[in-house]
Amino acid sequence: MTGDLFDGTDQPLAPGAVLLRGFAREVAPALVDAARAVIAGAPLRHMVTPGGLEMGVAMTNCGPLGWVSDRRGYRYQAADPLSGAPWPALPEAFRTLALDAAARAGFPGFVPDACLVNRYAPGTRLSLHQDRDEADFGAPIVSVSLGLPAVFLFGGLSRADRPRRLALAHGDVVVWGGPSRLVYHGVAPLAAGDHPLLGAQRINLTFRKAG
Ligand code: SIN
Ligand code: FE2
Repeated sequence: MTGDLFDGTDQPLAPGAVLLRGFAREVAPALVDAARAVIAGAPLRHMVTPGGLEMGVAMTNCGPLGWVSDRRGYRYQAADPLSGAPWPALPEAFRTLALDAAARAGFPGFVPDACLVNRYAPGTRLSLHQDRDEADFGAPIVSVSLGLPAVFLFGGLSRADRPRRLALAHGDVVVWGGPSRLVYHGVAPLAAGDHPLLGAQRINLTFRKAG
């Protein structure tokens, strides 16, 4: 998994949190193919927040559970609300990458049951938030960047903590768990660009143990 292209410069961010630079670079083409298949089965869509605002990030899911937002709130559910059908299965390449990245970050045996697929177009941002809709916070979050680079905002356990700005490139993986499981995080507005595999977009895969 960590072949020749993995430069091995793990960057600790906080207790339980690490940026694994290039960790997914070698498998990225397979991840992109698998993401395209997921999107073909469950299209990207702009969900609505409980407050009625359309989200800028387009989202879909794969795996037994998918994260959804609508006027009733945020939650995980087994069916895609657009089709009523189960979300597409978690691709094997996704499962393996998530397991390996979590293990490298100090969280062996990570078995995600949810993968949120986020698509950012230029100008799209994701405001600071915590991932707290999961049933227990014992498992880490594994977040994989594909396509255009982004500035990841990595904050602290309080919303008031000034976030660090981390440049994330195609194939970078961030893992946060343990004492960092509830850190605030977000993404700065995506700069325009043209990525060889993905064109004018960034795809982020976020793996979680939700149920
Ligand atoms: C998320 O917090 O769900 C996504 C983070 C990212 O796109 O890097
Ligand atoms: Fe998040």
